[in-house]
Amino acid sequence: MKLKVALIGFGVVGQGVAKLFAEKKQFLLERYGAEFVITAVSDVKKGAVADPEGLDPEALLDHLGKRGDLTSFPAPERGWDALTTIRRANADVVVEVSWTDVRTGGAAMAHFREAFACGRHLVTTNKGPLVVAPFEMMEAAAKAGVEFRFEGTVMSGTPVISTARKGLRGCEIRGFAGILNGTTNFILTRMEEGLSYEQALAEAQRLGYAEADPSGDVLGWDAAGKVVILANTVLRKPLKLDEVELAGGITRLSERDIQQAKQAGERWKLVAEAQMENGNLKASVLAKRLPLTDPLAAVTGPTNAVTFFTDLLGPVTIVGPGAGQRETAFAVLADLLDIHATLVARQA
Ligand code: HSE
Repeated sequence: MKLKVALIGFGVVGQGVAKLFAEKKQFLLERYGAEFVITAVSDVKKGAVADPEGLDPEALLDHLGKRGDLTSFPAPERGWDALTTIRRANADVVVEVSWTDVRTGGAAMAHFREAFACGRHLVTTNKGPLVVAPFEMMEAAAKAGVEFRFEGTVMSGTPVISTARKGLRGCEIRGFAGILNGTTNFILTRMEEGLSYEQALAEAQRLGYAEADPSGDVLGWDAAGKVVILANTVLRKPLKLDEVELAGGITRLSERDIQQAKQAGERWKLVAEAQMENGNLKASVLAKRLPLTDPLAAVTGPTNAVTFFTDLLGPVTIVGPGAGQRETAFAVLADLLDIHATLVARQA
């Protein structure tokens, strides 16, 4: 089955999706009978183009690489803003990978609402609307009868949400704890290896781990947003961003703190967790000095980990990439394939 895709956002993740479509085209067709065609791209900085017959992903990337934007890319339609693209593009699925704002939800709030109002399936890696209004968004999708997937909002393409929601179906998940931000874990690892904070942050930005505004990563807001998403969508407990205890993320740690911990056989980690305490969900994102024997201490670089505390299996831990272009684009691909399989099964 062919699925036509409108890409809202053509930054690190959007370009990663286009790369994967080109690279995996033959494999996806042969293995799953799936064909994904980009019919529109809309990006506030790079411009917008649409073609109901499809845009060649390699040509889009090549043009962007040479010209820096898409404004002169040959296409029958151009200049549509995100909402017009969602309304008018010849698309079955909207892939929303625009700028994330976990505090207000940002422009993505309107993009999500419009996608559901127009009856489009939605795949996203954008945490904003799922942090600010998770139940509204899940209910709007259900009411519209469309598929809604957001695996890439937590730990990039590592299947955390699908494992918790599908693989652990039947278990009661009572809480979770882990490392949920790739940028800060990478910075802590590189600082332990001798880099300064500024050098390590610059490297994380260059490698595409950090958000467009990296203050959300280092102050702990990004990890707190993921705690909120997991609490609402996996634990099904309402939790708001301002209810997550935060203490400056990793910004209060000095190079000296990190070296002192190393000498003592310990490691600083930004630990994100949510647990029931006396009937209330208590959530936090705090820098903690862990002994090397703690399993989380062994999780280094942009790798993340989360342990779900379940009633039937006990603790279940998932370890994998927490950030990165290819890793996050994979989350979009996996979600699209899941929707594809759902729609194929519905047709049968
Ligand atoms: N900036 C995020 C991180 C990207 O470093 O984890 C993935 O959500």
